[in-house]
Amino acid sequence: MSPAIFSDQYGRYKRKLRISVTDRCNFKCMYCMPEHPEWIKKKDLLDFEALYLFCEFMVQNGIQKIRITGGEPLMRQGVVHFVRDLQKLRSIGLKRISMTTNAHYLAKYAYDLKQAGLDDLNISLDSLDAQQFLKLTKKSIEPVLQGIQAAQLVGLPFKINTVLMKGKNDDQILPLVNWAKAHSIPLRFIEFMPLDGDALWHNHDVVTEQEILSVLATQFDLRELKQEHEPARLYRLNDEYDIGIISTISHSFCGECDRIRLTAQGELYNCLFAPQGLMLKPLLDQIVAEKNTDLRQTLQRTIHEKISAYIWHKAKGFHSLNKQPRKISMHTLGG
Ligand code: GTP
Ligand code: 5AD
Ligand code: SF4
Repeated sequence: MSPAIFSDQYGRYKRKLRISVTDRCNFKCMYCMPEHPEWIKKKDLLDFEALYLFCEFMVQNGIQKIRITGGEPLMRQGVVHFVRDLQKLRSIGLKRISMTTNAHYLAKYAYDLKQAGLDDLNISLDSLDAQQFLKLTKKSIEPVLQGIQAAQLVGLPFKINTVLMKGKNDDQILPLVNWAKAHSIPLRFIEFMPLDGDALWHNHDVVTEQEILSVLATQFDLRELKQEHEPARLYRLNDEYDIGIISTISHSFCGECDRIRLTAQGELYNCLFAPQGLMLKPLLDQIVAEKNTDLRQTLQRTIHEKISAYIWHKAKGFHSLNKQPRKISMHTLGG
């Protein structure tokens, strides 16, 4: 019998789960971190046992791909071990385990992550200019470049993500493309979204897909490729190298959205822009602690009903949501 699959009222099946394992990050990217972050207290984090239970439950209900995010996921002690534990879920349908990282600690962990069974990484890199990188992130670029080298060395496939901001790093479009092309590294540009910690986002800070294409057209012949089931639209440059553009603002991909996300404190979000999440930690902790099989099954039915109803009510998408201020930003929601 094929498993049940969570879906929403618009017929979008949920196949991808993104879990944030910590809201902490050693970088301070302007498009993400607030100036004065209030970190989640350690005791409020979902522990790995409950997180594993949740992932198992979600895979039983159709999730095929899990992406581990943060904050910076490599700042959570035990994350490599967790990747190893997730391997057990492959036999029940998990197809891919990925991570999104700033790569600062990657040189240290790349080998262990590969050994633990991680499939691939997305690495944030917003500039190749050392001074600009420092300004954008408040950290040095050097460990990041070493992390990228380490991933290559151990054979961990990765993509580079670059969020562009007007007047901050939009001069990096061609340098990044030329660098990525020369090293055959997949690269995606991302439109700045209204998810920055201090809610300073403004439409005029966005470098749109069209603007990116205009810059690329000064050096390359461009051909748009058919969009696969993923957020990035792909363009082939000079018939030899593909780049992606994730343009939530100018071309949202909400109609195809197959993802849901869990925060580090165990709150489920059916959309990046959802006004409200569904707190699952108390129930998950209760299930972990419950030794009686019947009672455990009852709790599992309860959590199934709650999740199913919450996902069902997912809004149509980004543009349909009335974006009220919300005290949750990308570093908590998981990139
Ligand atoms: P896959 O899991 O392979 O689809 O990876 P991905 O491309 O979604 O992963 P990644 O974490 O690299 O996401 C790239 C960027 O796309 C994020 O940092 C966000 O800027 C944006 N993004 C990710 N998920 C969503 C989403 O659900 N909605 C929107 N609008 N943007 C998203
Ligand atoms: N807009 C777009 N992408 C963002 N990210 C974080 N904040 C934003 C934002 N405001 C994404 C970037 C980064 C990942 C960790 O989260 O892609 O690489
Ligand atoms: Fe999905 Fe919401 Fe992102 Fe649109 S904005 S792609 S609906 S998570």
